[in-house]
Amino acid sequence: MRSFITVSILCGASALRVTPNIDRRTVFRAVAALTGASTLHGLEPAFAEAPDYAGAKKALQAMIAADKDIGPTMVRLAWHSSGTYDKMSKTGGSGGGTIRFKEELAHGGNAGLDKLVAKLEPVHKSFPTVSYADLYTLAGATALEAAGVPVPWKAGRVDAMTPAAVTPDGRLPAASKGNDPQKTAKALRMDVFYRMGFNDKEIVALSGAHALGRCHPDASGYSGPWTPTPYTLNNGYFNLLLSVPWTIKEWNGPMQFEDPSGKLMMLPSDLALVQDKNFRPFVQMYAKDNAMFVKDFTAAYTKLTELGTKNLKAVALA
Ligand code: HEM
Repeated sequence: MRSFITVSILCGASALRVTPNIDRRTVFRAVAALTGASTLHGLEPAFAEAPDYAGAKKALQAMIAADKDIGPTMVRLAWHSSGTYDKMSKTGGSGGGTIRFKEELAHGGNAGLDKLVAKLEPVHKSFPTVSYADLYTLAGATALEAAGVPVPWKAGRVDAMTPAAVTPDGRLPAASKGNDPQKTAKALRMDVFYRMGFNDKEIVALSGAHALGRCHPDASGYSGPWTPTPYTLNNGYFNLLLSVPWTIKEWNGPMQFEDPSGKLMMLPSDLALVQDKNFRPFVQMYAKDNAMFVKDFTAAYTKLTELGTKNLKAVALA
């Protein structure tokens, strides 16, 4: 196979030499097709165009400008692409871009993300040397910047080419464990976030992302936004958790909580953060101090999206 790839690459080189006006990308694509590679990154550097991360970021910014609801979903996609990591087996994480495979999109926790993965396909087509894994995490970082919290982002994730690296279903958190807050809190810790290598403070900081976006009945089955400002990331989620008299919503859907206006919601897993004696002090700390929340969120989120990756490097994005 190695010699076949080498021959193919040499053919590509000859094609470029004898037909100098040929579109380089056409040749790269032909080489990729010949070698069976589904994307171009990973080919000899001399043949792969340098990934245009800044261009990809501009395309993502245009998507957010055209549809601001897509930003929070990009953050969810980036987190779900990363949140499969298991520190013991060193499997999962954002490294392989495996969330694009139907096997992983079919996991219960990923309900609804297939739509965004499909919408990002044209961006990947325009920037084929940006891996899917980088594209999804770049989408999250671009959306967070648009929401007022720029986070550092590094490139260099290499896509898995087959679904073999998809981890088993069940690694992402459940919004409730049988309506028992203690069981829900325990599952968040033991089954999900400790498995990835996070502590209680980081779990609470990361959960502050629910200041953004909403639940969709046709995705998770839950409904509504957590905060009245779903396009801005700040500590509003923590203040609402502590100050609102949340009651169980009476409706024909899964158990969730609502504020007195019926416009805002919380999941059982959100309320578990104020019901659990070890999580609650961090909720109180972030409710009082937005700068502390932004600092701790940025650090924990960056750690999250770098799980299961290696050799990432800072790149120019402007
Ligand atoms: C702590 C455990 C968590 C649970 C149980 C949970 C659960 C959920 C659920 C059920 C939804 C609604 C999905 C939909 O219907 O479209 C959602 C949305 C969302 N989640 Fe989480 N999540 C958790 C942690 C996180 C973390 C750590 C982040 C990011 C760092 C995050 C970011 C988001 C965002 C931004 C949305 C809104 C998506 C949109 O508007 O389309 N979540 N989450």
